[in-house]
Amino acid sequence: MGLERTCVELGPRSYSVFVGEGLLGGIDELLGEGDWRRALVVTDDNVGPLYADTVTGSLRRAGLEVALNSIEPGENSKSMHEALELIELLATSGMTRVDLLVALGGGVVGDLAGFVASVYKRGMPFLQVPTTLMAQVDSSIGGKTGVNLDCGKNLVGTFHQPVAVISDVETLSTLSEREYRSGMAEVAKYSFLRPEMWPTPLAESAVSLKGVDKAQLAKVVNRCAAIKAEIVSGDECDTGLRAVLNYGHTLGHALEAATGYDGTYTHGEAVSIGMVYAGIVSEEIGSGPPGVADRHREVLASLGLPTTPRTPPGFDAVLDAMRHDKKNRDGITMVLIDRDNNPFVRAGLETGMLKCCYQRLVS
Ligand SMILES: NC(=O)c1ccc[n+]([C@@H]2O[C@H](COP(=O)([O-])OP(=O)(O)OC[C@H]3O[C@@H](n4cnc5c(N)ncnc54)[C@H](O)[C@@H]3O)[C@@H](O)[C@H]2O)c1
Ligand SMILES: [Zn+2]
Repeated sequence: MGLERTCVELGPRSYSVFVGEGLLGGIDELLGEGDWRRALVVTDDNVGPLYADTVTGSLRRAGLEVALNSIEPGENSKSMHEALELIELLATSGMTRVDLLVALGGGVVGDLAGFVASVYKRGMPFLQVPTTLMAQVDSSIGGKTGVNLDCGKNLVGTFHQPVAVISDVETLSTLSEREYRSGMAEVAKYSFLRPEMWPTPLAESAVSLKGVDKAQLAKVVNRCAAIKAEIVSGDECDTGLRAVLNYGHTLGHALEAATGYDGTYTHGEAVSIGMVYAGIVSEEIGSGPPGVADRHREVLASLGLPTTPRTPPGFDAVLDAMRHDKKNRDGITMVLIDRDNNPFVRAGLETGMLKCCYQRLVS
């Protein structure tokens, strides 16, 4: 079994991200020592039947008393209501602040369980066992937790780092094709943000990554984890450097919002289109390397991702949604790319120019 390991360096809150094949059955060996005696595994109704037995078995071998709770799959479960139910469950089953909460699933389970772990008895340890590509390369690392309110996504949340992240790439073989591709958009994002870390251009490995070559996939997931770990280590609480992870997300979030999160675009699909747009804007303001938008298009298309909105919302709707972006500082703020492919944040972007770029994107 190949095993890659990256450390997220955060002083006393540092932890390891393990990436490999067949890791779920060896969690007892990877987890190491802790004060925990009991564990609650939180999963969802898709992931539980596939992987919960292996995970609970492994935790029991580590000497833990283990309980399991499954939530309904989907974004609607990332709610205060669901968080409170889990908190009640922890309390009524007598879990202490040194016991362990385990998140087994995608970003929904990870964000919800992480949030619950951060507030129960003012914080208990939690372990991330991500099972989507999106969660393995992005959401499980960095300690951002949260739930949605009716009036907006991720409006309640905390920073609470896990004790470890265990990413078993074998779990990705049961993901739907669309979810897998969607996660690939975040992989592409890392290759655009840190091209020097990609000895083989992503477009060249695209075919082998479509589920056939697990060892290659583990390497790619680990490389993304290493990039995210480095960025998070430099900016744990998202006050500067971490903003670059939003590359492609300004238009991406706007497309998701302008279509009412109705599934027209998955997050990754929207971000894929958003990265092409960020490339166009970078070219337009003269910062980006010439041809960067076309090069983005080529990589994203090789991964089966969209590079233009299929039924483009009008620019006014998109602009309105971009104006509501949480990350805005002074007018519309985007992450762009400079001549050396380094990302940077630019505030106060002019709407006429943004409209021109949108027309270039959809034409
Ligand atoms: N905390 C962060 O830093 C951060 C970063 C990015 C995104 N997020 C959050 O992550 C969430 C999205 O996460 P996601 O894309 O993983 O979606 P998800 O958790 O909803 O999972 C997608 C679907 O795949 C299913 N699934 C998961 N693993 C599977 C497997 N191995 N086999 C078969 N089916 C499986 C799930 O049941 C679900 O139906 C959003 O709520 C987003 O806000 C958080
Ligand atoms: Zn994203």
